[in-house]
Formats: sequence, structure tokens, C-alpha cells
Amino acid sequence: MHHAILLLNGPNLNLLGAREPGVYGSTTLAQIVEKVTARAARHDFGLRAIQSNHEGALIDALHEAREWADGVVLNAGAYTHTSIALRDAISSISLPVIEVHLSNIHARETFRHTSLLAPVCVGQICGFGPQSYLLGLDALLGRLGVEGI
Ligand code: DQA
Repeated sequence: MHHAILLLNGPNLNLLGAREPGVYGSTTLAQIVEKVTARAARHDFGLRAIQSNHEGALIDALHEAREWADGVVLNAGAYTHTSIALRDAISSISLPVIEVHLSNIHARETFRHTSLLAPVCVGQICGFGPQSYLLGLDALLGRLGVEGI
């Protein structure tokens, strides 16, 4: 069986590197995708990266992942704090989803302290910059039973 992971990024994350570098750093999304792809490959997992600024497109990507993915690493951006629809999509697919954020959302504005998604995700990793994605991948691989991460 071919193993595969969806790396799903939400709104404004296409601007990583240029966007508020004081908060999000200078690494681009393409660089993050490259690193996570390489790490997944070491464990014989393929990785498909999708980024969208549109809530419905993110929901479609989660639905479609049922057909081909073993699990999802998700940075939903600001939809994390607002989207009941995205939360319901996570609940509707029986795939493990790991929530990740570059910044420590709990150390920022109060409106970022609440994640509507966290309760339906396996867990949440935040505050480690681009490394949050690698930690998220490891968490997902662990959840999928991969040994020796
Ligand atoms: C973010 C945190 C969110 O609050 C914010 O809206 C983002 C990025 C992060 O990765 O730190 O767009 O998800």
C-alpha cells in the first residue's frame, strides 16, 4: 500500500517569508513544504501540499483526502479561530489531523487563544516556527504507527 499525507495550509500562508517576518519568520511556504516532503519520504510517505485562501477549498481538500491520504498536517491560519465548517469537516472525515501553527497562538491576542479545531484534532503544535510542521509530521507518523521517528 502506498502511504500519503496531506499538508494543508490556509489563508495568507502563501505569503510566508514576506508576511510579518517578525511574527512568522523569513522561511517561505515552498521551503517548508520541501523540508516536510523530504522528512516524510524518509519514512516512505508521499506528501501532497495544498494551500488555499478559501474556506470551502480547504473543506473540499479534507473531503478528497479521504480517498488517498492516511492523515493530515493542518495549519488553518485564521480559520482556526473562526471556522465551525472546517471543524465539522475534520469531524466528518475519519483521518487523523494534527493542528500546527508557526507562532505560539496562546501568547498572542486573545482572539487567537481559542482554536475551534483543536478539540477534533489529534493535538496541537504551535510556537516553533517552521519546525512546528516537522514536529506535526512526526506526531502524525507516530499516530500512524511508524516506528523509530
Ligand atoms: C497561524 C496563527 C493564526 O492565528 C494566524 O491567523 C495565521 C498563522 C500560525 O501559523 O502561527 O494565519 O496559524
